[in-house]
Amino acid sequence: MAKLHVITYGCQMNEYDSERVAGLLKTLHNYDLTDREDDADLILLNTCSIREKAEEKVFSKLGQLKPLKRKNPELIIGVIGCMAQLRQAAIMERAPVVDLVFGSPAISRVGELVERVKRERRPVLETGEAPLVKITAKPQSGDRLKAFVTVMEGCDKFCAFCVVPYTRGRERSHSVESILAEIRGLAGQGYREVTLLGQNVNAYGKDLDPPTDLAALLDQVNELDGIERIRFVTSNPVNLTSRLIRVMAEVPKVCQYLHLPLQSGSDRVLVRMNRGYSRGRYLELIAELEETVPGIALSTDLIVGFPGESEEDFEATVEMVETVQYDSVFAFRYSPRPRTPAAEFPDQVPEPVKAARLTRLLEVANRVGAEKSRALEGRTLEVLVDGVSRKDPRELSGRTRCNRVVNFDGQGRTLYGELVRVRITQAMPHSLRGELVDEED
Ligand code: SAH
Ligand code: F3S
Repeated sequence: MAKLHVITYGCQMNEYDSERVAGLLKTLHNYDLTDREDDADLILLNTCSIREKAEEKVFSKLGQLKPLKRKNPELIIGVIGCMAQLRQAAIMERAPVVDLVFGSPAISRVGELVERVKRERRPVLETGEAPLVKITAKPQSGDRLKAFVTVMEGCDKFCAFCVVPYTRGRERSHSVESILAEIRGLAGQGYREVTLLGQNVNAYGKDLDPPTDLAALLDQVNELDGIERIRFVTSNPVNLTSRLIRVMAEVPKVCQYLHLPLQSGSDRVLVRMNRGYSRGRYLELIAELEETVPGIALSTDLIVGFPGESEEDFEATVEMVETVQYDSVFAFRYSPRPRTPAAEFPDQVPEPVKAARLTRLLEVANRVGAEKSRALEGRTLEVLVDGVSRKDPRELSGRTRCNRVVNFDGQGRTLYGELVRVRITQAMPHSLRGELVDEED
């Protein structure tokens, strides 16, 4: 049987797509997944273009794969996903080791494209648009409890720094029926938690006929037996409605956790980024969230060194981290991307300045995150047990509804896939320690 090795870069949506590709190749074309690249007949790199570093990683990997191809000329190497869509033929020009390049719209045709490489013995490039298809083929993966489910593709927002609208195309929602069918299937296989994915997930449903929204979808997923927890990423502040906020408080399986990218705390920068909200509007949303969903955990994405960002603008971002008190922060140095307006802005910030700002921002974010963790000490939280502790295999591990890792003594019980109550005894830098609370307590 032919062997497939998949290497995934980037976001959760790519992880989801990689699983679908592997699933399709297995069911329709008899490819078995292998962990070893030197054992594979087909190697697919599912790529990310969000920052330059992500693209460089792929080219350096392709360089490393060259000797394998020399040893086995029959080996097929494919570059798929965002970089394929953005860079197209330039990938093969820079890395002639590549036989196949295709973007996410062509995923459903992966088998046919691989066959074409074999038959025609020349490189194949496929980066056209195609209708949205829901692919549910999924190989057995490591995690048998938590699954991602893509509910919409693309983004129409065109933030000045972001390449996603060019790599993933326009916003398109999957039908409610196809999503519910997929989640029912997952529940039937024993999955307990789903994360609904979209670049702009809270714009879900606007394009459907009849139109619907994420709040309604969450309500429908909540009805499915077997699923215990529902998460969704990523929400855009512009599309965050009071209706969705209420659903987070009222629909029992929806977790009280929200990733809400801010990008910058400076109004001047937010305008130049084309984000569509101000610092004041964002703070209003945070206030509404905290009032409606008590104890909600918040995380965000921030960019430092966007063109024209002054010291003062940057300090406004730092201040927002202090004010909002995020549980966790994902901070990035601005990276100019092809086709995006900001790449052409004249006032680019020098790399050393970006580096210094990132260091300072992460210091503050880590301190705030640690304070948030310590505030959980003494509290009893619901934990979905998903395995054993990484450091000490005698201990069990799981996640809270606010998505924090908790390690605790399972008192000899397995508890895998169960929801248990754990009293938090100690906040560690990257996890919490706790003790199992007996149900009667
Ligand atoms: N809507 C998606 C955006 C995906 S990009 C989401 O919110 O998850 C993920 C994050 O990468 C963005 O929120 C942004 O903070 C960061 N990012 C996007 N383009 C970038 C760029 N050109 N340079 C640095 N960081 C960028
Ligand atoms: Fe990118 Fe802005 Fe859309 S960050 S994914 S263009 S919301």
